[in-house]
Amino acid sequence: METVTAVAALRARLDEARCAGRRVGVVPTMGALHEGHASLVRRAAADCDEVVVTVFVNPLQFAAGEDLGAYPRTPAEDAELSARSGATVLFLPDEAEMYPDGRDGVLTSVAVPALAGVLEGASRPTHFAGVCVVVAKLFHAVGPCRAYFGEKDFQQLAIIRRMVRDLSFPVEVVGCPTSREPDGLARSSRNVYLDPDERAAAPVLHRALREGRALIAAGETDPAAVRAAMAAVVEASPSGELDYVAVVDPLTLAPVERAGPACRLLGAVRFGRARLIDNISADGSDGDRPG
Ligand code: PAJ
Repeated sequence: METVTAVAALRARLDEARCAGRRVGVVPTMGALHEGHASLVRRAAADCDEVVVTVFVNPLQFAAGEDLGAYPRTPAEDAELSARSGATVLFLPDEAEMYPDGRDGVLTSVAVPALAGVLEGASRPTHFAGVCVVVAKLFHAVGPCRAYFGEKDFQQLAIIRRMVRDLSFPVEVVGCPTSREPDGLARSSRNVYLDPDERAAAPVLHRALREGRALIAAGETDPAAVRAAMAAVVEASPSGELDYVAVVDPLTLAPVERAGPACRLLGAVRFGRARLIDNISADGSDGDRPG
């Protein structure tokens, strides 16, 4: 695995690979890599000849007061996990490489407002615009490719799919299933913020989503009843402050009028300084299971 820090060098290497007929895959990340990221890299390596893992903690997607400074950074372990999972290139730009005029010097906006104001966007109004800018820049640096994103960040995946479609990026977006701990907790770089009590309580979010799925499977069609049942599971937990639970259309992310198997169930819960998100499909087609 080769480590590259400059956009121009990355582009040259991947242009050459494509000219030689090699298929390029990219897995954008913010580092602090775990088994969830590794599952994306393995999937990319199964499909592609060159697999680029990008590691960049993107300041534009953090609001003032969020955890940009505290966000875990584990560069040596990230390189090891990337190589072991099948990456051929590790792209590790610094902030000056990604934002030559500084993080406040980006005057262009890329955003999908119709999908970015709800769910995560309700409490993080500038987050997805920051994600879109950095992912657009990474796509330009990588060029035509397949790009692998986790369903764990379901709204992010929907927004990036839309951005790619609306702006004709030469990118095929591949959504990958959520990787979970054996007790059901979705793997996340932010799980390191949990103290032992919070860690023990954290799988409640996944249990709540499954409760919603079970109700729908049993024939419940009232989304308010499904939301109430999911909220009740979280509220019965010794720790964890419910932010939201939602039953939405998976493409528009709009609340559904009638719950059914095609819906997506999503939630966010705060445990101390960690804000955890998770989601599952109502029909079990995402293969959701712990472990
Ligand atoms: P990050 O949180 O590091 O996640 C990188 C990719 O890994 C995302 O596509 C995310 O959905 C996926 N991922 C994280 N946890 C996962 C899990 N448990 N199972 C499966 N996939 C998982 O998402 C970002 O970084 C950033 O917003 C980024 C897209 C890189 C832009 O800065």
